[in-house]
Amino acid sequence: MNKKMIVISLGGSLIVPEEIDWKFLKQFKKIIEGKIKKGFRFIIVTGGGMTARKYIEASAKVGDIDAEDKDWVGIHSTRLNAHFIRTIFKKYAHPTICTNPYDLEGFLKAKEYILVAAGYRPGNSTDYISILLAKHFEIKKVANLSNIDYVYDKDPKKYKDAKKIKEICWIDFQKIVGNKWDPGSNVPFDPVASKLAAKENIEVAIFNGKKLKNLQNYLDGKRFIGTVIK
Ligand code: UTP
Repeated sequence: MNKKMIVISLGGSLIVPEEIDWKFLKQFKKIIEGKIKKGFRFIIVTGGGMTARKYIEASAKVGDIDAEDKDWVGIHSTRLNAHFIRTIFKKYAHPTICTNPYDLEGFLKAKEYILVAAGYRPGNSTDYISILLAKHFEIKKVANLSNIDYVYDKDPKKYKDAKKIKEICWIDFQKIVGNKWDPGSNVPFDPVASKLAAKENIEVAIFNGKKLKNLQNYLDGKRFIGTVIK
């Protein structure tokens, strides 16, 4: 088991909430650098965020595009964000972005402190990619950083009585998110990725990455605010 390597799925909502959040990224970089100095290595999987959403919406207004085209626009947004993150961490990062989680030869041999990965094909998500990479690198913990504090048992925007979840097993989590990939849905963790995580016995922590003290606590193995799925 790879204890000094951590997979971070860096939600696009943190990189580009509306505009590029360089202030957040500056702090995020400091925290990651601190852990690198202690010998940790990272796989950072970047999401698409508002860039993906804006491009998808705009392309649908201009042309008659199908779900697969929309996914591709989303994928390229995750890749743009990946190149951006790699550039920010240039001193530590492997020069190539992983865009195919089934072709990991170069990546598995890489010696750099940071490996950056992005979207692969339509019908996937960066959640799934983060779990696949964890599997191949024999990493048992994945941090899913977004802008929500907890996972709820139902959509808190729609239901006043939604309850926050601090810890849940994969079987119960799958009852909440279902078991099929739905491109339009906004679930806290992709159902297909959940299935693989359950099979591989991988623990996923979902928390608000914007709260940097919380991120620091998670990385230090201390108590943090968020949801653990295992
Ligand atoms: P994300 O995985 O970032 O989804 O990919 P998201 O939930 O919208 O963004 P976050 O969590 O805020 O970062 C953005 C879009 O790119 C496509 C999907 O359409 C997805 O909604 N995508 C991504 C793929 O089709 N395949 C992939 O492997 C990754």
